[in-house]
Amino acid sequence: ALVSMRQLLDHAAENGYGLPAFNVNNLEQVQAIMEAASETDSPVIMQASAGARKYAGETFLKYLIEAAVATYPKTPVAMHQDHGQSPAVCEGAIKLGFSSVMMDGSLEADGKTIASYDYNVATTKQVVDMAHRLGVSVEGELGCLGSLETMRGDKEDGHGTDSTMTREMLLTDPEQAADFVKKTGVDALAIAIGTSHGAYKFTRKPTGDILAIERIKEIHKRIPNTHLVMHGSSSVPQDLLKVIRENGGEMKETYGVPVEEIQEGIKHGVRKINIDTDIRLAMTAAIRKYLNDNKSAFDPRDYLKPARAAAKEICKQRYTQFGCAGMG
Ligand code: G3H
Ligand code: 13P
Ligand code: NA
Ligand code: ZN
Repeated sequence: ALVSMRQLLDHAAENGYGLPAFNVNNLEQVQAIMEAASETDSPVIMQASAGARKYAGETFLKYLIEAAVATYPKTPVAMHQDHGQSPAVCEGAIKLGFSSVMMDGSLEADGKTIASYDYNVATTKQVVDMAHRLGVSVEGELGCLGSLETMRGDKEDGHGTDSTMTREMLLTDPEQAADFVKKTGVDALAIAIGTSHGAYKFTRKPTGDILAIERIKEIHKRIPNTHLVMHGSSSVPQDLLKVIRENGGEMKETYGVPVEEIQEGIKHGVRKINIDTDIRLAMTAAIRKYLNDNKSAFDPRDYLKPARAAAKEICKQRYTQFGCAGMG
């Protein structure tokens, strides 16, 4: 059944687990997530970015997710809009039937300019006022996602900035977080702790200087009743990179967010963990391998089947690792 995200996050907080929120763009990804959730008895957050809506079209996405709900009636599903860049975008998603939206006011509507704090508060509050009247949950974001290695803002997928920043801009301030939540009334807050979107997050296995798990603890201490969200939280498994490279892919050395660090975050208020890249890597590794092993194959079902199975495997791992399994 379609549920609000708030319901799922409240249950996660009461029971001390985290929910992976997987990005979806197509049929195989939706099926992989639902099969994994059904087999592990986990609740589901599926989210669509602006890029996903552009790729699939809003109506296709809406009905893909509705098809998932109809096929798995016992699984609770929140349908979430990822990184809404303006109140108008959020309103559009709500009209389409999304049960949850993110108003990302950390950047202005151009997706490039770092927004002022007052702009972020005002636009986020506007969305909360509209959404809550309709029973829709709202995620806000405070601080700028980006690398503490290079001091550059996230630019992987076009909703970030590539300008140089200070360490403080790249880490959410706990005092400001408390003020932001009080002024906006958001259901969940995305925080900046050194993660960024995409496959190239860290040039080495991250330590505390470049992945600030300590900052999560400070924020959680200050606002213990706010559900925290980690973006850019793919783990970028080395074994998948290896399969991609062995089968003709070219990806340079890179590291993601280790699952143990996410588990530490979950002990300190992290309830939603955004994952897109790991599914992309899993599907690409499977497709590259299949086509390399089967040079005369040409039916898309032949290679999309192992791709879907690989995506499902990653989802099952995360449901289990984040303590979600059995909570559906
Ligand atoms: O927000 C980040 C997700 O990875 C979505 O990426 O904008 O390429 O669809 P995208
Ligand atoms: P990854 O690129 O690490 O999968 O992050 C996805 C995300 O944060 C979507 O909002
Ligand atoms: Na942002
Ligand atoms: Zn994100």
